[in-house]
Amino acid sequence: MSRDFGKVAVLMGGSSAEREVSLMSGEAVLGALRHAGVDAHAFDPAERDLCELKREGFGRAFIVLHGRGGEDGTVQGMLEMLGVPYTGSGVMASAIAMDKWRTKMIWAACGLPTPRYALLEQDTDWAAVAAELGLPIFVKPVHEGSSMGATKVTRAEDLQAAWELASRFDNLVIAEEFITGAELTAPFLGDQALPLIRIEAPGGNYDYQNKYFSDDTVYHCPSGLSEDQELGLRDLALRSAKVLGCRGWGRADLMLTQDGKAYLLELNTAPGMTSHSLVPMAARVAGLDFEALCLKILEDARLGG
Ligand SMILES: Nc1ncnc2c1ncn2[C@@H]1O[C@H](COP(=O)(O)OP(=O)(O)O)[C@@H](O)[C@H]1O
Ligand SMILES: [Mg+2]
Repeated sequence: MSRDFGKVAVLMGGSSAEREVSLMSGEAVLGALRHAGVDAHAFDPAERDLCELKREGFGRAFIVLHGRGGEDGTVQGMLEMLGVPYTGSGVMASAIAMDKWRTKMIWAACGLPTPRYALLEQDTDWAAVAAELGLPIFVKPVHEGSSMGATKVTRAEDLQAAWELASRFDNLVIAEEFITGAELTAPFLGDQALPLIRIEAPGGNYDYQNKYFSDDTVYHCPSGLSEDQELGLRDLALRSAKVLGCRGWGRADLMLTQDGKAYLLELNTAPGMTSHSLVPMAARVAGLDFEALCLKILEDARLGG
């Protein structure tokens, strides 16, 4: 059955800030697909022209590029033009989900809960933003991932410096009300929600270091939430993906306060796929090993939408 996929390109690497993570994800996916008998090959768009995919007879692309220039609709658009079916969300949903600001606008318009926010600019009235959102405030670049350029601001006078830091990563920066609570992530596969993962980072600080390098970050899957809460949040995650037009697979990040209020933070359309990444962890709990997960994602590769 695996041979039915034809020649498969695992798109990995790329030129975003998350290149290194993407290479790790790509190696894991490549290994799993090959082990399953798929004719899979690594393809790094930072090193080769995507047009070669067609010339070299690739029948499908498995996208494990993270961040801009891969997860943001651009590669998806190219693959549409080349007529090479690809995994995950299409052009529009990928582009919207890469933009945390516009994602929040859509969620808010659909009545889905997301932290209150303000867009920060050079001439922002910093004191007014602090007064409106209340302290602490979380400042982050709109298009960046892996917690890069993000700061928790506890004093209004530090807001501008946090904006300046985030601006080094992106021309759009948002400030959000700071949500204190449990950190959760909600992976989905096709139209199914996978089990939630509850993340306990040292000091409640799930930053770049604690995401990729710390041994002290604890991942709970099953989440330990009540069944009602678990199912309610899984449903919320599916709806959050649906209104953005996402498909195939992905992962919504959210927070849950002590009094049971959920807030959607962002949606990742091509999340990490190393063997210890979060989507594979949730899939395992749902009875799908890494190889089966990769095959399922690949099976769903398509064009359009
Ligand atoms: N409004 C917020 N309140 C509290 N913590 C936040 C908030 N926004 C983000 N965070 C923290 O920062 C992390 C990264 O933010 P997120 O929006 O998921 O972006 P990314 O993962 O792309 O860097 C989250 O997992 C969470 O720990
Ligand atoms: Mg996140």
